Amino acid sequence: MTDEARTATSKADFSTIYAQPDPRAYFRALMPLEYQVPQRALPVVEALVAASGSRTVLDVCCSYGINAALLRHDLDLAAIGARATDPARAALPPGELIRDDAVFYAGHLRRPDLAVLGLDASAPAIDYGLRTGLLTNGWAEDLEDAGPSPALAAGLREVDLVVCTGGVGYIGERTFDRILGAVGDPSRLWLATFVLRVFDYAPIAKTLAGYGLVTERVPGMTFPQRRFADSDESDAAQADVAARGLDPAGKEGSGWFHADGYVTRPEATPPLAELLAGVVPG
Ligand SMILES: C[S@@+](CC[C@H](N)C(=O)[O-])C[C@H]1O[C@@H](n2cnc3c(N)ncnc32)[C@H](O)[C@@H]1O
Repeated sequence: MTDEARTATSKADFSTIYAQPDPRAYFRALMPLEYQVPQRALPVVEALVAASGSRTVLDVCCSYGINAALLRHDLDLAAIGARATDPARAALPPGELIRDDAVFYAGHLRRPDLAVLGLDASAPAIDYGLRTGLLTNGWAEDLEDAGPSPALAAGLREVDLVVCTGGVGYIGERTFDRILGAVGDPSRLWLATFVLRVFDYAPIAKTLAGYGLVTERVPGMTFPQRRFADSDESDAAQADVAARGLDPAGKEGSGWFHADGYVTRPEATPPLAELLAGVVPG
């Protein structure tokens, strides 16, 4: 990874793989690092879909629609990654690959009643999600930079559950505030956000509290995200978590980025332990 720039927060910069016409480069770069947080997050997200009765999920920083692929299809991340890195498909022109993926995912749809909307700054990634049918609707906008377009604001009105894996750090409280400002009834919104331990989620949780929502960390577990790309990334992440007062032993200290899971819910809902019974260690 010698050509990678470093972000201010110590992570390797993969921005080029987020802006391709299809996810082949994304999985080629991330599978060797055992990228897995969307799969790890899925049981929590599934539990919240059930608890909230969600019909319309917004995936923030959705990239190519990976959380939508997992939530709505009978496929896991390993199968999706294996397909994207299949040498037999490496030379396909993007248009052909996208048409082929649309047929493939349609054949694996298990939950047609759940809409998954996507928001990402990358127009090619959103375009892939829409053309393959992974995303029910999607918008390439940067809410750190500006408020939602009228089309995005209209789409956000129906959202009842927000999901975010691997997004915090790229986005912060400004994006969340703008989303909640456009949702029909923010006091009834649920969120499941998976945040690398190098980042502080408190400012976002504070913003959400301003809408009357309660945020708790998923207890008793963290969510492995991926292996470090190199020793610089490892050293920096261990220093970052230690500076936050967290112990890197067995997590960053063992070569992995780990995320904390945060669940945000309306005030008058059952406690998190009850909602996640069977998902978190008892
Ligand atoms: C690490 S990827 C996570 C992708 C996916 N959620 C996953 O877990 O595999 C980060 C994503 O955030 C997007 N992104 C970066 N900055 C953004 C911003 N300001 N607003 C929306 N999306 C952004 C990138 O384009 C990229 O798709």
